[in-house]
Amino acid sequence: MTVTELHVDKRNFASTRVQTRARTALAPGQVRLRVDLFALTANNITYAALGDEAHYWKYFPPGNASVQWGVLPVWGFASVIESRHPQLPDGERVYGFMPMSSEVVLEPARVNALAFFDGMGHRTGLHPVYNHYARCERDPLHAPDTEDVQAVLRPLFITSWLVSDLVEERRSGGACQVLISSASSKTAYGTALQLRAAGDGAVVGLTSRGNVAFCERLGCYDRVVAYDEVNNMDRDTPCIYVDYSGNGPLRMALHSHLRALRHSLAIGYTHVGRLGPPGHLSGPPVQVFSAPDRIRQRTAEWGGAEFSRRLTAAYAGLADFCVRPRSGGEPLLVIERHAGPAAVTQAYLQVLDGGSDPRVGRVAGLVVA
Ligand SMILES: NC(=O)c1ccc[n+]([C@@H]2O[C@H](COP(=O)([O-])OP(=O)(O)OC[C@H]3O[C@@H](n4cnc5c(N)ncnc54)[C@H](OP(=O)(O)O)[C@@H]3O)[C@@H](O)[C@H]2O)c1
Repeated sequence: MTVTELHVDKRNFASTRVQTRARTALAPGQVRLRVDLFALTANNITYAALGDEAHYWKYFPPGNASVQWGVLPVWGFASVIESRHPQLPDGERVYGFMPMSSEVVLEPARVNALAFFDGMGHRTGLHPVYNHYARCERDPLHAPDTEDVQAVLRPLFITSWLVSDLVEERRSGGACQVLISSASSKTAYGTALQLRAAGDGAVVGLTSRGNVAFCERLGCYDRVVAYDEVNNMDRDTPCIYVDYSGNGPLRMALHSHLRALRHSLAIGYTHVGRLGPPGHLSGPPVQVFSAPDRIRQRTAEWGGAEFSRRLTAAYAGLADFCVRPRSGGEPLLVIERHAGPAAVTQAYLQVLDGGSDPRVGRVAGLVVA
């Protein structure tokens, strides 16, 4: 049997190749999983952009070790198809960090009824949040009939929720408007939805001109401003900037223009061609957000069970916002499926290119049924 992997050139993300290789035999304690479905969104492109500094290329080294090529991590569902681990039988369904591959070998450690961690040697020292796998049967966020939607939304909306929690904490000193860039991205509008529910101040979406109408229709922004209009915004309203774009010139423009900017949070990097501050920034320092660190902090403060309870409740509300039929009968989120190496490559390149319909959530799999 062979394994099919999609490789991405670490220095030129538009260059890809499909590789097949022979399976390796399982060692005692290991399991082989078939990667059935995973989502592709701008978040995965960020993993490529931060691949070296945040170690994303290290999670799934390609079959034949390569300096040039890497396997991009994605979030999705897989099933155990061969097991040498006593607690994880054939057929066990798992959710977590996956390679863009038809299969993956994991070495489950610290196994309990809900989850386990991958103990493969090359993942020692990598972030535990990404080494964690949920066992679907007992996972409170899992529903077997909505795996497509979960693959797309779950990794994003956890961050939406964590960021809105952080913003609430930052603005506890007084009402503050929140400006959110890449407002058409799922993580951004998930954040806006949470903040609107908290109701402590206006939420303004910043987006490209072509996505203004989409963001206005979402209904979770009090106002939507195109990127080329940000210099017309009121300068003296106290505000927090929540940046999902990573766009350096945009950040520079906002920091210069907004005299009452209180906090500037960097979370995402959707505008891969315009990353980084172009020079000295006025205003508050930029705080780089780390979801794994915030999860660790809140888990320590609230306890694991309470963290999970709050997250599950928030996720249910956010997912409902995306899947319930809207006035035209269509839900906000339109799932597009891509099966097999050629289709997955094309879907990946569409996400990399960025300029597509923000309603679409791409779900992919290298295994052709
Ligand atoms: N730190 C974390 O833990 C964490 C977790 C989840 C997500 N995020 C970040 O949040 C951001 C959004 O992720 P998502 O998966 O929710 O995105 P998504 O739904 O796939 O976002 C699509 C939107 O992103 C912008 N975009 C995407 N590619 C672009 C390109 N090549 N050029 C210009 N604009 C582009 C466009 O928005 P506009 O036109 O509105 O700019 C587009 O409508 C990502 O940067 C991701 O890394 C961070």
